[in-house]
Formats: sequence, C-alpha cells, structure tokens
Amino acid sequence: MHKHDLVYLTEDASHDAAIEHINEEAFGPGRHTRAAARIREQGPHDPSLSFICTDDGETIASVRMTPVMAGAVKGHLLGPLAVRPSHKNMGIGRELVRIAVEAARRRGSEAVILVGDPPYYCPLGFEKVAYNALAFPGPVDPARVLVVPISEDTHQRLKGTIGWRE
Ligand SMILES: CC(C)(COP(=O)(O)OP(=O)(O)OC[C@H]1O[C@@H](n2cnc3c(N)ncnc32)[C@H](O)[C@@H]1OP(=O)(O)O)[C@@H](O)C(=O)NCCC(=O)NCCS
Repeated sequence: MHKHDLVYLTEDASHDAAIEHINEEAFGPGRHTRAAARIREQGPHDPSLSFICTDDGETIASVRMTPVMAGAVKGHLLGPLAVRPSHKNMGIGRELVRIAVEAARRRGSEAVILVGDPPYYCPLGFEKVAYNALAFPGPVDPARVLVVPISEDTHQRLKGTIGWRE
C-alpha cells in the first residue's frame, strides 16, 4: 500500500503554478466563466485564509477564499476547492473546507459562502441561502448557493448583491 505524507499549509505565491494546474485539471477551461469565478476576477483572493495540501512535498489540493460583501454581510467566498484525482476520497477536501471555515471564523468573518453541491457541503456546516436572496455577477443555480452563518443574524442580512470587497 502506498503511504501518504499529508501536510496542510497556508497558501503562498510559491504554490501558484501547482494550484493553477490542479484547478485546470478539475474544472477545465470553462472555469473562468462561472459566476463565482467572476467575483474572483473583481479582486484578489486572500492567501492568508487559503490552504493547500501536500503529499510528500507535492501540492495535491487547494482551497481559496476571497473577501466578499454579500448583501449586508462581510464574509468570504470559498472556492475553488479541488483535489487531484489521485487523492480523492481520502477526506482531504473535507479537511480543507474545515480549516478554511475555521480560519475565516477566527478572522472575524461573518459568513463563508459558496456555490456547490449541497450533499457534499451541508454535512460540513453549510446551509442553503434563501432562494434568490443573493444576486451574483452571472447566472447561478439558487439551490446551490450555500453559507456557513457565523454571526447570529447572517441569514437575515444575506440579501442583495454579492461582490468582492477590500
Ligand atoms: C469535490 C472534491 C473537492 C471532493 O474532494 P475529496 O477530497 O475527494 O472529498 P472527501 O474525501 O473529503 O469526501 C469524499 C466524499 O464526498 C463525496 N463527494 C464527492 N463529491 C461530491 C459531490 N459533488 N456531491 C456529493 N458528494 C460528493 C464522495 O462520494 C465521498 O463520499 P463518502 O465519504 O461517502 O465515500 C473533489 O472530488 C474534486 O476536486 N472534484 C472536482 C472539483 C469540484 O467539483 N470541486 C467542488 C466544486 S463545488
């Protein structure tokens, strides 16, 4: 059996090329047109809240976090999340989400928002955002807009447009 040596690290610029490759492999060339990607084009992600996983020194998974204003909520957009095919189903995606949400919480973020599959994310603490409550800069399936509400009234204040914030 192949032994793994997994290490979770905060992202820095030295990981950029590997992360680009992982996202290209996971999502293909159409990835830049997705509504969440359009938010990420409005401004940079926050490397200090973004994480990678290495196996024996090689970067094999990544999650990025981008600061957003979502209605009246100062939160973070989670994504892209991708794990190399060779390392799927080992709990790495789940662990990266856990680390990223925890880091955002410690930083004082009011919510972690994403567009993704509810069956994967809801067991990790995500809840559905009220149908069509958030307007993205492009079409999204409203049933896939999810949030970890960190402040008490997050759900009530998640109404309006979502976009990059300073
Ligand atoms: C989705 C992804 C990040 C999961 O990472 P991972 O490290 O393989 O996932 P984990 O090991 O933490 O969890 C695996 C479990 O999630 C399930 N799962 C994976 N993708 C799922 C999905 N889209 N919907 C529901 N369940 C899913 C697996 O079946 C597995 O279930 P099990 O534990 O009952 O066997 C990874 O498969 C990936 O990079 N996919 C391509 C890119 C992508 O779709 N990213 C998410 C964008 S929203």
